[in-house]
Amino acid sequence: MVNAKDGAVFRVGVLTISDAGYKGERTDTSGEAIVQMMSGPGYRLARREIVPDESEMIAEKLSEWCDGGEVDVIITTGGTGLGPRDVTPEAVLAIVDIEVPGIGEAMRMGTLKHTPLAMLSRAVAGVRNGCLIVTLPGSPQAVRECLEIAAPVIPHALEMIRGWRGHPAH
Ligand code: MTE
Repeated sequence: MVNAKDGAVFRVGVLTISDAGYKGERTDTSGEAIVQMMSGPGYRLARREIVPDESEMIAEKLSEWCDGGEVDVIITTGGTGLGPRDVTPEAVLAIVDIEVPGIGEAMRMGTLKHTPLAMLSRAVAGVRNGCLIVTLPGSPQAVRECLEIAAPVIPHALEMIRGWRGHPAH
């Protein structure tokens, strides 16, 4: 349902952030929703994993994928809420070169029509080493609603951030 610009194939990393998912106690339906949404002709799934709600593990995995040069965009799901274990936004902001506040703002604003709970997600986005990271809330429905908003701008964002690769600010 999402398409990259003519000819370009963008490599996608899908990271599910969930204590229960990591322990195998819950099926990763949100990660699956991302995979399905990002399966258009211009995209290829390059990495998919589950990590627990631990800042260091989240930051380490994201840094590894971005710096390894094997993904162009990482979409995460989970850990953006208000609970004590919801540490995804802070983990992402700790490792990005630049933040892209408009993506989170647009997802919240654009999905409020579905549910007022949209305002409880602290989802963020940013760029590390030429790789775009977008965080999404942890339910499959929220994934679909938020990606509907963010996906159309991803190809243009990826074209713009190419120059960061090999020139990290961190
Ligand atoms: N955004 C959209 N579009 N649709 C949703 O159903 N769920 C909300 C919110 N954002 C939701 C949403 C809920 S219930 C929570 S608790 C927060 O995202 C954070 O979810 P997370 O902690 O699983 O990331």
